[in-house]
Amino acid sequence: LRTRLTDLLGVRYPIIQGGLAHIATGAFAAAVAEAGGFAQITATSLPDPSDLAEEVRAFRARSDKPFGINVAMGHRPVDDFLEAAIAERPTAISLTGGNPAPYIPRIKAAGILVMVLVASLRQAEKAEALGADVVIAVGQEGGGHIGRDDVGTLVLTRRVAAALKVPVVASGGIADGAGLLAALALGAEGIELGTRLLATVECPVHPRYKEALVAAKETDTVVVGRSDGAPGRVLAGPWVEVIRRHEEQGGEAPLWTLMTGEHNRRGALAGDFEHGFVWAGQGVGLIHEILPVRELLDRMVQDAEGRHKALAEAFRSSCAQDAVSR
Ligand SMILES: Cc1cc2nc3c(=O)[nH]c(=O)nc-3n(C[C@H](O)[C@H](O)[C@H](O)COP(=O)(O)O)c2cc1C
Repeated sequence: LRTRLTDLLGVRYPIIQGGLAHIATGAFAAAVAEAGGFAQITATSLPDPSDLAEEVRAFRARSDKPFGINVAMGHRPVDDFLEAAIAERPTAISLTGGNPAPYIPRIKAAGILVMVLVASLRQAEKAEALGADVVIAVGQEGGGHIGRDDVGTLVLTRRVAAALKVPVVASGGIADGAGLLAALALGAEGIELGTRLLATVECPVHPRYKEALVAAKETDTVVVGRSDGAPGRVLAGPWVEVIRRHEEQGGEAPLWTLMTGEHNRRGALAGDFEHGFVWAGQGVGLIHEILPVRELLDRMVQDAEGRHKALAEAFRSSCAQDAVSR
């Protein structure tokens, strides 16, 4: 399964591991890279930019494969994180959550590929015009921060892939081989996985988070943060109810004080859903078991291939039937 994306990033599978705040450590990224995906270390959820070097060391101790570094704007100043990321000389840096214009030239000048996450056609066209090498289109069914336009992956991917010249990656709600094949059919040259990768053996989140993902249905996520202009999709739970009530009825403290990095860590790393929240996309409905990353990616690609063959067969036999009936 070779696309412009696999050639550009130098990976076996056209599958990118999304930036995963507080989760995408060097060790986890190495598991993804060794399984054939394009792995990323998430920089901006580390306590300090100087911590990035240690994560990259942990990655390089386990894998000699290409990797990326994710930089999310909007939460805290990112300049020092970006400098630290460039200094590590990853294959690519992905930018999300804000205006990438000031950062793209610096990354490109260092000879590093730039991937930009977008949630609308307008943002996608802008990213390409600014020099992005890869554009990742994130539909509203995805876990974590989503755009304000509420466009689903099916339409967004098609719109963006039809309009851009650079490789487009589909993201949001993809969790199995059928989703991978669908993304390729829409014109994407790869996919990005967030939620599905959480329910893997190697993922460093709390076992309760993984089990909750397996148990959850596609209707068990909610979008919070709309009132703050920063919507994000989370797994329903007791703390999310507190956030929702606050958002509906208002409260003294600003909403973000209920959704800090510490609240997220409590949910994701301590499995405490009474006092913390976790991000998750609607693809939870497609997660039925916790798998090693390698098995997950191998199965996804094999399943996509099997489905592609079956469809090609179905098209051939319907053509043959048409010929007979004519
Ligand atoms: C737990 C979690 C944390 C995330 N953190 C980040 C992040 O720090 N940076 C980023 O670019 N995207 C982040 N995302 C979004 C993912 O990179 C990806 O775009 C999204 O998960 C795709 O949708 P899916 O969850 O349906 O696969 C996060 C998603 C999840 C589920």
